[in-house]
Amino acid sequence: MTMTVSKRPLMIRACVLVVAVLGSGVFGVAADGWRGGRDDENNNDGFNFFPSLGSQVDFYKNACPAARGVIRLTVLSAIIRDRGLPAALLRLQFHDCFVRGCDASILLDSNQTHLAEKDGVGNALSVRGYEVIDAAKRAVERVCPNVVSCADIIALAARDAIVSIGGPSWKVVSGRRDGLISNAVETPSNLPPPFADYSFLVNIFSKKGLTQREMVILSGAHTIGITHCGLIQSRLYNSTGPNGVDPTLDSAYAAQLKLQCPFGAAMNEIPLDPFNKGDRFDSTYYTNVLNNKGIFTSDATLLTSPVGAAIVRAEAAGRREPFFTDFAAAMEKLINIETLQAPQGQIRQFCRFTN
Ligand code: HEM
Repeated sequence: MTMTVSKRPLMIRACVLVVAVLGSGVFGVAADGWRGGRDDENNNDGFNFFPSLGSQVDFYKNACPAARGVIRLTVLSAIIRDRGLPAALLRLQFHDCFVRGCDASILLDSNQTHLAEKDGVGNALSVRGYEVIDAAKRAVERVCPNVVSCADIIALAARDAIVSIGGPSWKVVSGRRDGLISNAVETPSNLPPPFADYSFLVNIFSKKGLTQREMVILSGAHTIGITHCGLIQSRLYNSTGPNGVDPTLDSAYAAQLKLQCPFGAAMNEIPLDPFNKGDRFDSTYYTNVLNNKGIFTSDATLLTSPVGAAIVRAEAAGRREPFFTDFAAAMEKLINIETLQAPQGQIRQFCRFTN
């Protein structure tokens, strides 16, 4: 009894804090404020790239009207503590959708006899943000048990997180179901490695129904977040240019990276975009690529194709537009790759385990 009485004001204070912080612009929410417009739950006239998900944006409108709000609040509270989370959640979404579609297979835990996706190449020691999805699931289960899928929570959390740092918003049609299978052996053939060249990238994205243009646009996600030095070691120390530096990498930038990433310091973390410390969502990724400051080979390679280079130049032209509009449209397609529909899959009770 005492517990209930004392906890409530705390929760209310937490909600007030989140709202106040948002209002004060601490998150760098763009001047036009909270842009949830593309997520109008009553507005069903948006273009749905995946008709099988249904035309209603909010699948949970009747069964769990609080779902979207509860997820948003959980995510925003977590971002107050860790501003790197939006990047983490965006990448988690990408890696989930590229292996077995957007079915939350990335969330399933390995056990003693089976290695799951999250421990596969490209995800292990790299993808993060799982705890936030767990927290959102717990919060949603409290208000409506067994209704909201983990796959939908990923999609809503990633979108809300990006909006909270002043990035674009996109429409999240809900109704995904959670997959039952997750295999670590499937990650290497489905996730692009940082040393991929242009034709490799075009090919791997096309297998997911995404165009060359969408590949270049989605690469713009590297405007936020971090990488580990080990993944650029070969570009800094073992390539064909002077002092082992990749000749396609700007030499001053390479020198700066070498200071941050001494040889062998594989787990040091550095921002993907050195000019905004990796926490501001804007088009500077493309300016960096144009100036030979794309951090991975997979970023630099966008300039090796005339088509890719033209898209990079167009996206670099303005800080927010056309990048925000293009990125939102590409995300609406990404988050609907190979989704599961009832009676396929299930609504997991805990995102880390099948029921
Ligand atoms: C085009 C092919 C891509 C390649 C080769 C690639 C590769 C990588 C690598 C190697 C990292 C660093 C991981 C680490 O050090 O732990 C990274 C980080 C990141 N990637 Fe990509 N990526 C690609 C496309 C994308 C797409 C399509 C998105 C999202 C739409 C995305 C979002 C991110 C984000 C936000 C981070 C930072 C994550 C964090 O801070 O935890 N990437 N990517």
